[in-house]
Amino acid sequence: MPISVYNRTWILETEHSAYVFGLNRAGMLVNCFWGNRLPARHDYPEPPDSSGWASFDGPAQCLPEEYPCYGGMSYHEPCLKACFADGVRDVRLSFQSASQADAEHLVLHLHDPYYPLAVDLHYRLHPQCDILERWAELRNEGNAIIQVERALSAAWQLPGPSAQRLSHLSGRWNDEFNLHRQPLTPGVFQLESRRMSSSHQHNPWFALDNGSATEESGQVWFGLLSWSGSWKLLAETTPFSSTRLLIGLNDWDFCWQLHPGETFTCPVSLAGYTQNGFGAASRLLHTHLRTQLPHAPALHKVLYNSWEATLFDVSAEGQAKLAEIAAQLGVERFVMDDGWFLGRHHDAAGLGDWKPDPTKFPHGLTPLIRRVHDLGMDFGLWLEPEMVNPNSDLYRAHPDWVLHYPTRPRTTARNQLMLNLARPDVQEYLIQSLSSLLSENDIAFIKWDMNRNVSEAGWPDAPGDPRQVWVEYTRGVYHVWNTLRTRFPNIVWQSCSGGGGRADAGILHLADQIWPSDNTSALARLRIQEGFSQAYPANTMEAWVTDADRHQLSLDFRFHVSMCGSLGIGGNLLAWSTAERLTAARHIARYKAIRPIVQLGDLYRLRSFAADGNPALLYLDQDRAHGVLFAFCTRADNPAAPTPISIRLQGLLPDGLYMMESQPLARSGASWMQQGLTLPLKPGESLLLQIERV
Ligand code: GLA
Repeated sequence: MPISVYNRTWILETEHSAYVFGLNRAGMLVNCFWGNRLPARHDYPEPPDSSGWASFDGPAQCLPEEYPCYGGMSYHEPCLKACFADGVRDVRLSFQSASQADAEHLVLHLHDPYYPLAVDLHYRLHPQCDILERWAELRNEGNAIIQVERALSAAWQLPGPSAQRLSHLSGRWNDEFNLHRQPLTPGVFQLESRRMSSSHQHNPWFALDNGSATEESGQVWFGLLSWSGSWKLLAETTPFSSTRLLIGLNDWDFCWQLHPGETFTCPVSLAGYTQNGFGAASRLLHTHLRTQLPHAPALHKVLYNSWEATLFDVSAEGQAKLAEIAAQLGVERFVMDDGWFLGRHHDAAGLGDWKPDPTKFPHGLTPLIRRVHDLGMDFGLWLEPEMVNPNSDLYRAHPDWVLHYPTRPRTTARNQLMLNLARPDVQEYLIQSLSSLLSENDIAFIKWDMNRNVSEAGWPDAPGDPRQVWVEYTRGVYHVWNTLRTRFPNIVWQSCSGGGGRADAGILHLADQIWPSDNTSALARLRIQEGFSQAYPANTMEAWVTDADRHQLSLDFRFHVSMCGSLGIGGNLLAWSTAERLTAARHIARYKAIRPIVQLGDLYRLRSFAADGNPALLYLDQDRAHGVLFAFCTRADNPAAPTPISIRLQGLLPDGLYMMESQPLARSGASWMQQGLTLPLKPGESLLLQIERV
């Protein structure tokens, strides 16, 4: 049984880990344990008690509460802050009962003793991936509005010595997923997005360790927030030897009017534990995101995307010429990017009018789609549904549909404004217009872009508090996308926001893939992909070979970098020489053979790009019988001489006998993992080697 009750504690066990919490003698719901699964139920500690610390810190300050609220003597960051109709801003929650939705889903029912506020804490286990999902649901059981000013999804509690360091991913446009490992000191460390998307700046992923975990060893507690709008993470190190990591919706500029009878559901925060370092933490997340999302992971086709080749200079003939070469290379999907719709000759017009531009496509998209099909590929298209250019028919008809304040100028970015997707009429318009586009044309793939962040987050005539827009907008995106996904179940979807501006577990419920960055330089990608892979699996990571660093790096190297994810091509194929096209065709054929291992296998980051610029990655299938090793050299003391790059493999069966391409002898898994191998590579060189159990 993954969930059991023992002595007023709930024991939640996955294959290797346990998460235990319970009611202490004072009736507070507190965390007891989160770590390696133990043999017996009585092995786990009992719920801790405390009478506080002098007259200054009450029990709430000293104890790891499961869902701390702002009330009583609470000075730490709370998960919940609310104001009742009579102006009381003090929330107390006491345990009422527990129930199970199923064998892996526990719900604790809490209630304010005086006010009609019910809070359900949800715990859903994924035993195979050692993952626990948590979220809270607030319900107003009275007849007056309750103002909710903060509603985070979960507080993850750890003893301070275990959580002295926080790993996180930060960046900016064109420079996403920089991995930072930073010591936690007393006080609160905050990461957030106020941008109406999860953001390029900080990704809603975290890992905590005691400061000594490595890629291969050490205890790591890690997690994500499954939400694609503004969010917040607070890591608070208390004076009482504990660390609490709170995560959820951002409460910046936020207030939710919880109406009588209404339930407010927070997004899911999922987390896990491993004693095997950051690499194992990533693999658990990858497995979870590959196997537990609503849509089954398919093997992604090799695609061509026309953006970097043509920018806005799109025409039916130009696209067909690119498609012909793409097909010769072995590409399976041709994607026409921006520039195809009404008036879209530059970035200052057209967004919102999702019809083919008649000057570029006088007979619609059908002739081009037919041509692409005849070439043996399927057809994909770029969209940016949430946006509108002031120079568009949509904006001229509905200037009130954008986020704005009537008294303020509307700040454009890339000449565009954001439609207010919190509005049901805007959602309906998008569903209708995109449904027409998708039913009139045989489209197999959509790249859904979002090329700016919010400004003037006003919602005139909002039915409730206009600050609810922070949640309703994202829910609106989910609703539109989900409706389209349900109506057109065969379409493969990609999430893009000027690169990795909306890369999160929430969007992965809708998108099969993510475009991690507009930076397509292979050198930059090695770093970006390493960061991305901390949280998200290779099948979700679209990676194109483009003309960036064409004159600095070989096509082999650039292909190898992109073959570490879901391979695509984004260069101007018209300018590729015959030799380049032959090389590309060879790599594409090779990729098709190894793609199940790369896209659906386990990733071992054998060497880190961040460490010395010479990364190595191993992808292993679930049976540990087939693997693909990638090794890259980008830095060396002597650029003219080969650098011996030593690599120790991981994840193999120690007693299995493995043969590695280019190596003379079969060796045991133990030998590959302990002695490893040395590959002499010069800067700019790379290798792809397959390994097989014989
Ligand atoms: C964004 C995307 C690019 C491309 C352009 C088109 O920047 O990240 O890949 O689609 O928009 O305008």
